[in-house]
Amino acid sequence: MAFATRHFARASSSSAVAATAAAKKLLIKHVTVIGGGLMGAGIAQVAAASGHTVVLVDQSDEILKKSTKGIEESLKRVTKKKFADKPEAGAEFIEKTLKNLTTNTDAAAVVHSTDLVIEAIVENLEVKNELFKRLDKFAPDHTIFASNTSSLQITNLANSTTRQDRFGGLHFFNPVPMMKLVEV
Ligand code: NAI
Repeated sequence: MAFATRHFARASSSSAVAATAAAKKLLIKHVTVIGGGLMGAGIAQVAAASGHTVVLVDQSDEILKKSTKGIEESLKRVTKKKFADKPEAGAEFIEKTLKNLTTNTDAAAVVHSTDLVIEAIVENLEVKNELFKRLDKFAPDHTIFASNTSSLQITNLANSTTRQDRFGGLHFFNPVPMMKLVEV
């Protein structure tokens, strides 16, 4: 995500040219979040609020409607705190965030233009592996895959793909919009 890219650029400041080239390569603009439950909805919210174009994917439109409603409610709570004295800026923040966010039920159809896939589906190795294996065929080479798993080994998930060098753990904490910590 953007903050990771900025850190990377700073760390490489000894060679401005190399850093710029590397940061350009790493720049994450489009994020696909798979799983619109407790964690996925929160991850989609913070990714959209920080200016990324986000597609949130789940198994049905009904689930996604619930996820979107939850995100809207959460945004209102965040805005109330963050923009306590500036209601207009708060309304603009909500509008901008929701503009960055769409939903879809077909992950394979949306990953073709994504820079980062964050998986937050059911905690089951077989189900996660089946998903990653399928998406590996549809996502571009540069796309980074990440899992929000709590207990599964990232290597076991990465091995279901051909992109072990572009696969990682991004472990967010609940509630995602309130918790600034993320384990990478
Ligand atoms: P959840 O049960 O709230 O949400 C999971 C969502 O994934 C559901 O909406 C479900 O419909 C969807 N889903 C399942 N299979 C799918 C598939 N093949 N394609 C698309 N969507 C699919 O689960 P929760 O709590 O959000 O956890 C998600 C992941 O995050 C798990 O791996 C969990 O271990 C991890 N995690 C959970 C934390 C928590 O406090 N709940 C904290 C940190 C990580």
